[in-house]
Amino acid sequence: MPVTTPHPLHVEVASAHSFPSTQRYQQLSYRIGDFFGQADFHIIPLTRYDLILGAGWFASLGAVTVDLQLQTLTFSHDGTQHIFSSIDSRQDYQLISGKQFIRSLPKAHCAAILSVQPVQPIADAPPLPQVWYNNVPHTRLVADKGGQNWIAIAKDKFKFPGGGTQFAHGADQYLDQMSQMLPDLKFGTHVRVALDIGCGVASWGAYLLARGVLTLSIAPKDVHENQIQFALERGIPAMIAVLATHRLLYPSQAFDLIHCSRCRIEWTRDDGVLLLEVDRVLKAGGYFAWAAQPVYKHEESNQRTWLDMEDLATRMCWKLVAKQGYIAIWQKPIDKSCYSNRLPGALPTLCDINEDPDSVWYVTLKACITLPRNNPDKFFWLDYPARLDNPPVRLQSLHIDAIASKNEVFEADRRYWIEIVQGYLRGLSLKIEDIRNVMDMRACYGGFAAALADQKVDWWVMNVVPISGINTLPIIYDRGLIGVAHDWCEPFDTYPRTYDLLHVHGLFTLEQDRCNIAHIILEMDRILRPGGWVLIRESMAMALSVEVLAKSVRWKTHLLDTENGPFGKDKLLSCQKVPWHGF
Ligand SMILES: C[S@@+](CC[C@H](N)C(=O)[O-])C[C@H]1O[C@@H](n2cnc3c(N)ncnc32)[C@H](O)[C@@H]1O
Repeated sequence: MPVTTPHPLHVEVASAHSFPSTQRYQQLSYRIGDFFGQADFHIIPLTRYDLILGAGWFASLGAVTVDLQLQTLTFSHDGTQHIFSSIDSRQDYQLISGKQFIRSLPKAHCAAILSVQPVQPIADAPPLPQVWYNNVPHTRLVADKGGQNWIAIAKDKFKFPGGGTQFAHGADQYLDQMSQMLPDLKFGTHVRVALDIGCGVASWGAYLLARGVLTLSIAPKDVHENQIQFALERGIPAMIAVLATHRLLYPSQAFDLIHCSRCRIEWTRDDGVLLLEVDRVLKAGGYFAWAAQPVYKHEESNQRTWLDMEDLATRMCWKLVAKQGYIAIWQKPIDKSCYSNRLPGALPTLCDINEDPDSVWYVTLKACITLPRNNPDKFFWLDYPARLDNPPVRLQSLHIDAIASKNEVFEADRRYWIEIVQGYLRGLSLKIEDIRNVMDMRACYGGFAAALADQKVDWWVMNVVPISGINTLPIIYDRGLIGVAHDWCEPFDTYPRTYDLLHVHGLFTLEQDRCNIAHIILEMDRILRPGGWVLIRESMAMALSVEVLAKSVRWKTHLLDTENGPFGKDKLLSCQKVPWHGF
C-alpha cells in the first residue's frame, strides 16, 4: 500500500509540468533487464508513461556512461556491469507531420513498462462490467460526465450506469425507442454492423453488443479524456478516430447503421464534407441516426440547423424514415435511381468514378457523393448470420490470382480457419473467459474472426487489413465483421494495454522489407495487456527471428508445430506477456 507523505514532493517532468505527489510506495522491488533494485516510487498522474525514472534514481546508480549514438546507458553495480539499451539501436527517430498527429499516437521507442498493480480486467461480459480504477486511473470523465450517467467511481472500480449525454436514462431504453420508431432495424439480424461516431465511453455500443450488433465506437483523444480507453477496458469494440480532414479508415459501404448522439460535429459545414464521409462508409439502404438538439429544440438557431441538415440529406438522396422526440433517422438509397435523376450541376456532385472508394490511407476528404464502383441497380445485404458464411458480392471485384473460382477460394479459407481455430481452442491453454478484445493483425477475409463466431466464442475481433496487401476490408464488413486499414510501419490508434490477444498470420513476412519488425513487436507489446497472448503463424525461419525479439520484450515464448505437423511449412509461435511485477 502507498503511504501518504505530509509534505508533497513537487515532481517536474520533461514537459516542464510540475506535479505535486502526496503518496509513495516505499522500497518497491523492480527489475530492468538483468538489473534488480529497490526504490521509493512517488505517485503522480501520468498519461503517456507508466513510469518515469527520475534524477534521484540515476544518481543512485553511481557513475553512468551514456552513449547517445548507440543509445546505451552503462553502469556497474555490486561488481557487475549493466547495459540498458533501446531495443534496436539502428532505429531512426522521425518527425511526424500534423496530419499524422490527428490519427496517431507517438511511436513506442522503448519497452520499459512497469505496472504497480495487476491489470487482469474484470471478466463479466458487457454491457455492465466494472473496471479496475488502477487500470485506467483517470477521474476527469467522472467529474465532467458523472451527471449524465456516463461513469461513476465506486471504491477501487469504475462503473458504467449506461447513460449518455442524450440518453441519461440509459442506452437500453434509448435502443428500445429506436426499434419502436423503426422496426426495420431488426438489431442483430438486419442491422449487424454499426458505427458510433463520438461514442463517449461507448455505452450505446455496449448495449447493442448484447443485442447481437457489432458496433465500432470511435472518438478522438480530446477533452473527453480516455473515453476509448474506458470503452476497451469494458471489453467493447472501440478505437481512436476523428472525423476531420481525412477519410475514416473503413471501406465504403461498410456499416448498416451509423449513429451520432450529440457528437459535436457540424454536419453541414464545408458543403457537407463530413456527412458525405458518413455516406461513403454507410451501406446502400443503411441508416443514419442523429440525436441532437436541432432535432427537437425550437429556438431559431436549432431550427436553422435542422433545416440545413434536412436540405443536405435530401440533396444526398437520403430519405427521412423516422423522427421522434430527439432522434431522427435517415436511410441511404437502396438503388441508383435518385442519383441518376439529379439535375445537372446539383450539389454535392458525384465523386470521380475513377477514384477508389475503398482507398483510405491518408486520403483527404472531398465534398462529393461516393458511388460504389460496381453500381448495381439494387443494393441489398443478407441478414446475419447468413452473411457470415456466404461469399459476398464484392468478393468478385477483388484482384486475386487463383486457380479456383473466388467462391471456392473463399469457402476453402472459411473451412481452413475453422480447423485452425478448433486447434487453438483445444491445444492452447487460453482461458476463454479471460479474453475479450482480440486483434487479427493481418485478417485477409476475416476467416479467423468468422471461425470464432462459428465456434460460439464470445470474443470480438478487430480485423486489421495492412495497406501493403490486397484490400479485403469490404469483404470483412460484408460478412458482418468489423475491421480497419492500417500500415504496420506506424502505431495503431489505440491506448496501451487494450488488447487481450493478438493474432498474426504472415504479417512479418509481408512487412519485413517495408517496416522495422522490431518496431512492430514494440507496438504489439504496447497495446497488449500484461498476461495477454500473441499467436504468430510464420515460416520456421521468420518464427525463429521473431522469437528473439519476443524474448527481448520479455514475452514467454513456445515454438509449436501447427496442425500440419513437424514437416509443415509454418510454425506457431505462442507468446504470453508475463506481468513484470510478477517476478
Ligand atoms: C457530448 S459527447 C457525446 C457522447 C455520446 N455520444 C453520448 O451521447 O453520451 C461528444 C462526443 O463526440 C466526440 N467528438 C467530438 N468531435 C468529434 C469528431 N470530429 N469526430 C469524432 N468524434 C468527435 C467527443 O470526443 C465525444 O465522444
